[in-house]
Amino acid sequence: MSELTKSRKDDHIRICLEKDVEFIKSNGFEHVELEHKALPEIDKEEIDLSTKFLGKKFESPLFIEAMTGGTKKGEKINKNLAKAAESLGIGMGVGSQRAMLEDPKLVRTYFVRDVGPSIFLLGNIGAVQLGQYDIEKIISLVGSIKADGLAIHLNVAQELAQQEGDKSWKGVFNDIKYLCKKAEFPVIAKETGCGISGKLSKDLVRAGVKAIDIAGAGGTSWVKVDAYRTEEDVSHIEEWGIPTAEALKDVVGKTKIPIIASGGIRTGVEVAKAIAMGADLAGLALPLLKPATESPGSVRKHLEKMISQLKDAMFMVGARNLNELKKTRVIYA
Ligand SMILES: Cc1cc2nc3c(=O)[nH]c(=O)nc-3n(C[C@H](O)[C@H](O)[C@H](O)COP(=O)(O)O)c2cc1C
Repeated sequence: MSELTKSRKDDHIRICLEKDVEFIKSNGFEHVELEHKALPEIDKEEIDLSTKFLGKKFESPLFIEAMTGGTKKGEKINKNLAKAAESLGIGMGVGSQRAMLEDPKLVRTYFVRDVGPSIFLLGNIGAVQLGQYDIEKIISLVGSIKADGLAIHLNVAQELAQQEGDKSWKGVFNDIKYLCKKAEFPVIAKETGCGISGKLSKDLVRAGVKAIDIAGAGGTSWVKVDAYRTEEDVSHIEEWGIPTAEALKDVVGKTKIPIIASGGIRTGVEVAKAIAMGADLAGLALPLLKPATESPGSVRKHLEKMISQLKDAMFMVGARNLNELKKTRVIYA
């Protein structure tokens, strides 16, 4: 792997652990309320959180968003995340596999099937990389880690904020379309914290993607992260992006494919709101990073708290399962 890719991956982890890298603005979920049911007429114990996403069963509608790989630190983080995901019956994504394209030996730093044999697992690569490597190499990213699909990340703001970032995005839509045509696994389009609009989601469905991960604004700001690595002043775009709740509302109205709501999702109540609005899963990254440097148990503890909060919200709207939660009246304040 090139020294640049390697130092960038470890820099990102260090910065995310040590600095304030979140948006000042919110994810927008404070403007979303679920109709409270003063008489829920259900037993909290009977609440069932299980669901299916792209054909795979989840015990709860949570997804561990793509973070890392390519280095020793990244390998430990991925294994701890996967162990927690396996024990909770949820899914996860590995971080960008670009490092693996440069040095295939690094596959071990992304390989988690040994500890997560049954989890729904997504590989990950940048949309811009699709035009820079052979399609066979891109396709092999999924098989080499025995993943269930490939997330293509759209990270235009981050590329702008990186001195070495890709500033030419012409033809990327066609690259995604070509990959969707060739791949025998589902291709998922994801942002990294600036959100996907309803209009773009329609185009992405036309291109052949099988799910969309909103990754809106309100959580980790990648411009803020990369601001620590660049000499340039990028403060004018640190707060750029569609708040997650706004993007979700827009995308739900325009597409029928499964949706992951992510970007600043921090509580189980926000998960409940996202599902009621039409998301299939809710994902989070940054809050799991520190626990993942410690142990699978620390990751699990964080997620269990969110699961318990989600159940509280479902109890108060009288929803025994996620289908009933989806029918709850959503009030946009
Ligand atoms: C340390 C770290 C590394 C990340 N690396 C990647 C990556 O390689 N590929 C990607 O698609 N997203 C990456 N992301 C973005 C997340 O997957 C997610 O879209 C974003 O952080 C918003 O979620 P959050 O607010 O819960 O952190 C990373 C996030 C973090 C915190």
